[in-house]
Amino acid sequence: MTRRDCLQFLAATSAAAAAAASARAAAGDADRETRMKWWHEARFGMFIHWGLYSQLGRHEWVMENEGIPVAEYEKLAATFRPKPNVARDWARLAKQAGQKYMVLTTKHHEGFCNFDSKLTNYCATKQGPGRDLVREYVEAARAEGLRVGFYYSLMDWHHPDGARCATDEQARRRFVDYIHGQIRELLTNYGKIDILWYDVNWPLKPDGWESEKMNEMVYQLQPQIIVNNRNGLRGDFTTPEQTIRASSDQAWESCMTLNGSWGYHKADTDWKTPRTIVRNLVTCAHDAGNYLLNIGPTGDGSIPPESSKVLSATGAWLQRNGESIYKSEKCPGMRSQSAGFTRRGNTLYMHVHYWPGETVALGGLMCKVKSARLPATGKEVKFEQEAFRVRFTGLTDKAPDDPVTTIAIECDGEPRQDMDAVRRTRPRREV
Ligand code: GLC
Repeated sequence: MTRRDCLQFLAATSAAAAAAASARAAAGDADRETRMKWWHEARFGMFIHWGLYSQLGRHEWVMENEGIPVAEYEKLAATFRPKPNVARDWARLAKQAGQKYMVLTTKHHEGFCNFDSKLTNYCATKQGPGRDLVREYVEAARAEGLRVGFYYSLMDWHHPDGARCATDEQARRRFVDYIHGQIRELLTNYGKIDILWYDVNWPLKPDGWESEKMNEMVYQLQPQIIVNNRNGLRGDFTTPEQTIRASSDQAWESCMTLNGSWGYHKADTDWKTPRTIVRNLVTCAHDAGNYLLNIGPTGDGSIPPESSKVLSATGAWLQRNGESIYKSEKCPGMRSQSAGFTRRGNTLYMHVHYWPGETVALGGLMCKVKSARLPATGKEVKFEQEAFRVRFTGLTDKAPDDPVTTIAIECDGEPRQDMDAVRRTRPRREV
């Protein structure tokens, strides 16, 4: 691209963004619920961290952690030669795991673009891969019926203006135009994109990034898209990281690693178990949040076998118990030390993490139980309900399902638990 083409491209970008600004302001936030419906129902997505760092296998922050100079790090662009069609394996695994959407790092902090960009040569089509890895990913996700998300890091350790933009206005102008230009490319060249997942807005403030204008452009290019909050604005959803923390006033999604690293890390063997993943999924669904669970493929695109194992086991559980997770609604107030809870309408799902044996009991339920069953087998469960206790009886000694057994409890109204009511019924005793 000549300098003149580049300037024209950028002028077009800002004119369109300005037009979109008013369009977006007029539309307001009224359509958010509609845009986010599928996402809320989906509950579970796959995050994929993949870039030049994946070849080294020492965390995606390796460039910064080890102080690798740009000129040395750049060489990894030539040796990045993934196997053909790796994205198909990721998408198949996501489908098998019961995940409904995927989010791929199109560009991480290292600055290398997995997509074809006219604005830099530091991209997959012009370097080692010699192909557009983002296009392959988009096609693979769609082939499995999964929604498509793009992660895009605003922070950029490779771009010469990536740091000095904070102190030099001309550098800021160039860099922000570059970033906006790349987002425009991503949202123009790959058809319908469902999620834009910004990351790290160092070193500028939202004003410096021109984040308002950025989002306006995004919504203009992809009217149905949803965006997160990491360009410093509120966006459509918030993104607690490595923790599950419900937001009281906004849609939220917890993103988490399967071991301790987002990018492939050879030496990190601290894998979470399927039980932990199912419990986390239940915890998210309890408060109507989503769970975005990460895989870090190796440099050639292979998925670490431990990740596949955990995801497959989670998917098998979801096959049997998915009705308790997908389309679940908030389940306020239901708590137990041995179980988690989710809800769909008047059906309460009790996820028993520690199986007590023949009888499972639940205290403080304030509605009448009409019936109970195990979604895993379809079997009815007998029950007895008195004052503030329901006992599910005639169950097996060994947990009927693995890694967590779910009991679907049909209630005569919206399930609610009131432990205070239970406490009040206890006779006062002098001490
Ligand atoms: C952090 C890290 C980054 C990772 C991201 C995922 O911002 O810097 O490496 O991609 O979290 O949420």
